[in-house]
Amino acid sequence: MSVKTNLFAATMLAGAMAGLSAGTAQAQGALVMYCGVQEEWCRAMTTAFERETGVKVSMTRKSAGEVFAQIKAEAANPRADIWWGGTGDPHMQAAEEGLTEEYKSPKMGELQDWAVRQWEQSKQRTVGIYSGALGFGYNTELAKSNNAGEPKCWADLLKAELKDEVQVADPNSSGTAYTLLATIVQLMGEDKGFEYLKALHKNVNQYTKSGAAPARAMALGETMAGIAFMHDIMTQVADKAPIKIVAPCEGTGYEIGSMSIIKGAKNLDNAKKFYDWALTPAAQKLGAETKQFQVPSNKGTPIPPEAPKLNEIKLINFDFAKYGSSEERKRLLSKWDNEVKNLPK
Ligand code: G6P
Repeated sequence: MSVKTNLFAATMLAGAMAGLSAGTAQAQGALVMYCGVQEEWCRAMTTAFERETGVKVSMTRKSAGEVFAQIKAEAANPRADIWWGGTGDPHMQAAEEGLTEEYKSPKMGELQDWAVRQWEQSKQRTVGIYSGALGFGYNTELAKSNNAGEPKCWADLLKAELKDEVQVADPNSSGTAYTLLATIVQLMGEDKGFEYLKALHKNVNQYTKSGAAPARAMALGETMAGIAFMHDIMTQVADKAPIKIVAPCEGTGYEIGSMSIIKGAKNLDNAKKFYDWALTPAAQKLGAETKQFQVPSNKGTPIPPEAPKLNEIKLINFDFAKYGSSEERKRLLSKWDNEVKNLPK
């Protein structure tokens, strides 16, 4: 064979192989995911799913309220296929507004009751993937030079000594902060609850965009106290931050982190493939591996030993259907904007 023929054969072969691999990639296709948990966990899920299935995942991390707003804005021409993680309330609102798809996974029988209830209440449009309680924490080093004493209750966060020492997210963007808003209203009643939030406003140094940001700020010593999910504060403690985690004495709310398939998903089969996989213990244990200490929804997934123990925390009987309803969520958020956010300090 001449050099020329050899080259020709080699080119043909390379071409055929390229065609083959493009074909394979096409066959496995793509998945566009909006991810509502911490970036590390989002990335671990993306990588593992790609490795397992060959599906190419394009992932964006956003806070719960922001994902909801984006999905709503894109409803006429949806960009995303799956919304994985984040507090359940905007998932419930999206279900009610017809922005997400009904789906019954073959994995439903393996899930905790609270995860299935979320699915039933949303008419099969969203499912629980993890749970975790809201609380607060304080930097023990900074607390030494503050006269407020050790905060143990929600009421303690109102002490004058904590002026500009408390950080929490903005409930419009953050599901964590919306969980706080809904928790306080359920715990104290709406009038007293809003009085509490107005008084708290005096002590808030910053309303952050993402819910876990105050936990990081506490670890860095940028704020003495921070309101967040207790498991997000635990992530900082696991990294040796001098933080004490508090389950508020009056009781507290909790989240059911959720997953939904976007209505009109262009990669519907891959969205279902991801959904089923994300409910398996193998996928759920990636949380603890990336220091995310929620309680997983599959009964077979080990609960990380660091996970705050939900049965030892005084939890309120959180009404997820009511506070995840479109009307109530919109009403409370605009009331908070009008009565709390812009109050002078
Ligand atoms: C963190 C927590 C999740 C929670 C999420 C909500 O990622 O680990 O449990 O669902 O925050 O985020 P957001 O920024 O909307 O408060």
